[in-house]
Amino acid sequence: MSKKILLSGVKPTGRPHIGNYFGAMKQFVDLQDEYECYIFIADLHALTTLHDPKELASNVIDVATDYLAIGLDPEKVILFKQSDVPEVTELSWIFNTLTTMPYLERAHAYKDAMAKGREVNVGTFDYPILMAADILIQDADMVPVGQDQKQHVEYARDTAEKFNRTYGKIFKLPEVLIEKNVAVVPGTDGEKMSKSHDNTIPLFADPDKIQKIVMSIVTDSVSDIPKNVYAIHRLFKDEKSLTALYEENRGKYKILKEALFNDIVDFVSPLGARRAELAAKPEKLLEVLKIGGSKARERAARKMESVRKLVGLSIYS
Ligand code: TYM
Repeated sequence: MSKKILLSGVKPTGRPHIGNYFGAMKQFVDLQDEYECYIFIADLHALTTLHDPKELASNVIDVATDYLAIGLDPEKVILFKQSDVPEVTELSWIFNTLTTMPYLERAHAYKDAMAKGREVNVGTFDYPILMAADILIQDADMVPVGQDQKQHVEYARDTAEKFNRTYGKIFKLPEVLIEKNVAVVPGTDGEKMSKSHDNTIPLFADPDKIQKIVMSIVTDSVSDIPKNVYAIHRLFKDEKSLTALYEENRGKYKILKEALFNDIVDFVSPLGARRAELAAKPEKLLEVLKIGGSKARERAARKMESVRKLVGLSIYS
């Protein structure tokens, strides 16, 4: 029996943080044997906020390196960059013509940006539709993400239904996969860890930087258990040893932060060492992306042929 298809991506707007890792990227690694996996770097989505070409290109290579360093195996997983599958933009245009403005105006990311008085570009407004195209063009069954992307996967399902109703049943309805315990990984201030909140702990950074960040975790003085430290620490240590550690060191914030720092470093050091080896061979990384890109494109191109026929865009036999 053929395997089900898993698809997910990370936006190369900076380096992944431990929220990206525990919330989503770890699941890609854990599930790579069970599913046929399409894992990509969402460079077209990154363009909605990043307009520095050098930075974008180097972020893409960095994220590709990070993917391999955490254990994604390019022999098993199709690893690619989104823009190597230009069919997604064609499909998203077709989806746009079926999507109403009020429907997109309900998207959380758009509403948040408007509430903050930001100037919103059309790409940001249309972000969920490009994401629907990413997912649906590869016939994904399963989309592992953090909680913040749940609505986007729902948009993909709705869009598939709408297309299927209008033109004929061609798209699968993808399922979202959210790991309950890590659905929203908190940052150093207790809010959701996010590049835009400046509260992240990078997955790959030198120990000095990690130490500085851990020591800056916001603590309140009302409790003996620093809850923001604990909430991050539980990602790295089992609950039993964690409870014992925090009981033993009630009120000793500095000791607890140092313990967290050591646990993070123990966890990320082997990944960092692997990353350094990979980063030393950039031509190999590019080769992995090229091969993955052409495989992902081949599959997307086949799907688009069927879509064009259904929509009435194919007139030559
Ligand atoms: P991005 O790059 O913002 O985040 C990558 C993944 O990390 C998850 N995540 C978190 N999970 C738990 N706690 C957090 N604090 C946290 N912060 C981020 C995100 O939920 C995500 O799963 N739009 C996507 C990229 C994308 C995509 C797709 C994903 C484009 N097309 C199609 C899946 C399918 C994004 O910007 O993720």
